[in-house]
Amino acid sequence: MAFPESFIYELKARNDISEVISNYISLKRRGRNRVGLCPFHGEKTPSFNVYDDHFYCFGCGASGDVISFVMKIENLDYLDAVRFLAQRAGMEVPDNSYDNSMNNLRKRIFEANREAARFYYRTLTSPEGRVGLDYFRRRMLTDATIRHFGLGYAPDSWTALSDYLIGKGFKPDELIAANLSVKRRSGKGVIDRFRGRVMFPIIDLRGNVIAFGGRIMTNEKPKYLNSSDTPVFKKSENLFSLNNAKNTGSRALLLCEGYMDVISVNQAGFQNAVASLGTALTSEQASLMKRYADEIVICYDADEAGQKATARAIPLLRDAGLNIRVLSIPNGKDPDEFIKSKGADGPAAFKAIIEASGNDVDYRLQKLRADFNLSTSEGRVGYLEACAKLIADIKSPIERDIYVSKLSKKFEVDKNALNLQINNLSNRNKREDRRREMRKIRSELNGTNDKIDKERHTKLRSTSAEESLLAHLINNPDSLKAIKQYISAEDFQNSLMKRYFEYFSGRIESGLDPLNNIAADFSDDERSRMYQILSKYSGISQTPQSLYENIRIIKAESERPKNTADMTGEDISKLFANMKKNKK
Ligand code: UTP
Ligand code: MN
Repeated sequence: MAFPESFIYELKARNDISEVISNYISLKRRGRNRVGLCPFHGEKTPSFNVYDDHFYCFGCGASGDVISFVMKIENLDYLDAVRFLAQRAGMEVPDNSYDNSMNNLRKRIFEANREAARFYYRTLTSPEGRVGLDYFRRRMLTDATIRHFGLGYAPDSWTALSDYLIGKGFKPDELIAANLSVKRRSGKGVIDRFRGRVMFPIIDLRGNVIAFGGRIMTNEKPKYLNSSDTPVFKKSENLFSLNNAKNTGSRALLLCEGYMDVISVNQAGFQNAVASLGTALTSEQASLMKRYADEIVICYDADEAGQKATARAIPLLRDAGLNIRVLSIPNGKDPDEFIKSKGADGPAAFKAIIEASGNDVDYRLQKLRADFNLSTSEGRVGYLEACAKLIADIKSPIERDIYVSKLSKKFEVDKNALNLQINNLSNRNKREDRRREMRKIRSELNGTNDKIDKERHTKLRSTSAEESLLAHLINNPDSLKAIKQYISAEDFQNSLMKRYFEYFSGRIESGLDPLNNIAADFSDDERSRMYQILSKYSGISQTPQSLYENIRIIKAESERPKNTADMTGEDISKLFANMKKNKK
């Protein structure tokens, strides 16, 4: 960590955290904080809180200062997040040699991936890659498309890529970390992860190659093999081809099932296509899309798997605040097959079905029909009740009214009756939502961060007092001297709280802002726990009395005899002596 403290301090001072966060989500004032819908998980009622110097989400536990916010939302590492904020504030980044081993490893992985992508691309156009190139040609990709996506071929050999990269100075451990190579079963040396596959590089928003997908051309399984998560790649948080799609200027994205659909849709002239990476869509990916789009057109396959995936994706996208349309592709095809089946008219035909696509509610109301026999009265009642349930989930009253009108006309039922049913259900939903959020907040306040702070359970009394004291100390650094007259770090029972105390008092004594550097000195979980504590006490005024009470508890807990495991031989013999005395 080589940035001067003063620089980080100024950087934070010049990048007001609520201003920065307001660029991504809308915040409303609530008391001393601001709240909004968390950009890191899907939620309907806001539990994302922004304080003077940090944020904390009671729903998912995401937390940190303005730098960690930028790291998370822009998917940047620490150094780049600092650069990002410096640029925003018009500050010069001090010339330094920031490096730690993790950062170096990430850099090496990016470099290895880039070399690997070049290697795969070159191989594709060499005699060895003939099968791959023939495959892409069979699938009607042009040379320009292949070049644009940097497609390649991984030779059907055990060590071609590993040997090549090791020859270029990469260490086997780095290749393993990049998931380009895997350890041999025998334990000695490495072999290539991808063999005999056509390769799709996955590129992040800044042009780094972060991972690969590879398709086998035979009937072997798995059909597509994707990079596992690595220090530079999290499957659940990235989208294939978002690097292309984000630049189109359109606020709509076409969400496809896989690599080939995206590429083929691109070749037909629609660059705003993306795909999730070999997994079901996640809420992180939905939030990511929300940053570049207002509307998503789901372009999944017309087959059963595709329809199931559509049903799963709709609520995730809706919760992220996106408008949704669902493409219906004639004759059970996927976008790639559909476009090809129309020959030269492919692009126009695809455009036409996009324009004809209904929104998600229309889609779901339509799908529901299959579950009921609409030629009977019972069937119609059942269907309308199911529709009411679906409409009750919609927040906008105007939008609800549109569907109610449609249904009441079509089925000749009273609009009021439908509305009554819907309002009942919707009130119940609202109550449940609120209850759920409250439960979440409560369990979060009670410390679900237990995994990082295991001692909290067994040392509840001391930990609570220690937490409260730490919050007081951070908000009133001047109180350190007074506190130290009564207690020292040794009096802390919870070892994490003790570390915080030592750390903060050290910084305060050297005249530094206690929280300024917490990102560099604690792990993510430890930081989150600290921010949770600060959030918990943020609205609570701490008086000299409460401070004194906490000091008293900490002192008392520190002097209280521990369980027998912690006792010294002397303690135990004293205890025995006492017991004997009492018996007599
Ligand atoms: P499909 O099997 O429908 O593939 O899986 P596809 O896109 O139609 O592929 P082609 O046209 O046969 O080449 C849909 C998506 O699911 C993921 C991939 O992202 C794929 O594009 N997938 C599928 C995997 O990750 N692994 C698999 O083994 C299969
Ligand atoms: Mn398919």
